[in-house]
Amino acid sequence: MRAATKVAVLPAAPASILGYFTLVAIKIVDHELPDDLAKKFKIRNLVSGAQAILLAQLGVDRHAAGTGLGTFLLKQALRHAVNGALEVGGVALIVDAVDRDTAAWYQARVPDFRQLTPDGLRLVLSMRTLVS
Ligand SMILES: CC(C)(COP(=O)(O)OP(=O)(O)OC[C@H]1O[C@@H](n2cnc3c(N)ncnc32)[C@H](O)[C@@H]1OP(=O)(O)O)[C@@H](O)C(=O)NCCC(=O)NCCS
Repeated sequence: MRAATKVAVLPAAPASILGYFTLVAIKIVDHELPDDLAKKFKIRNLVSGAQAILLAQLGVDRHAAGTGLGTFLLKQALRHAVNGALEVGGVALIVDAVDRDTAAWYQARVPDFRQLTPDGLRLVLSMRTLVS
């Protein structure tokens, strides 16, 4: 599993991590997706699935909360995900939100996120949408 973590620090205090995110290369298979997305991603009946990028973690230190750092880190994560997908492939970005409030936080910032699971916590965004 390939994973990359980026951290946000102030130059004056590089040892204090204010926020971070982790991107992981994963595989998604068609039964994990609604039919229209499996078709769009061209992975219907593809046993090996397709490469996607999972935003596995994104967090902000409570002292830096509410300053816009989370939104900034999300934009950075999306930018890195697009660059990763352009280099190694990736049909979608997936996020596992910890709760419904956090899922709503993601969807408020990126309205194209679609809910993948009945609990509403796994979100998916087509990489084509991100690139365009
Ligand atoms: C979610 C999180 C990354 C937001 O970071 P942040 O730097 O505070 O976010 P921003 O400053 O960009 O945005 C602040 C806004 O988001 C809201 N918000 C912050 N955390 C939220 C959460 N967990 N759920 C819903 N809304 C949240 C704030 O109320 C604020 O709303 P406002 O703009 O209407 O005042 C941060 O709260 C966090 O690290 N939470 C704990 C870890 C976590 O849940 N990570 C997500 C894992 S999937």
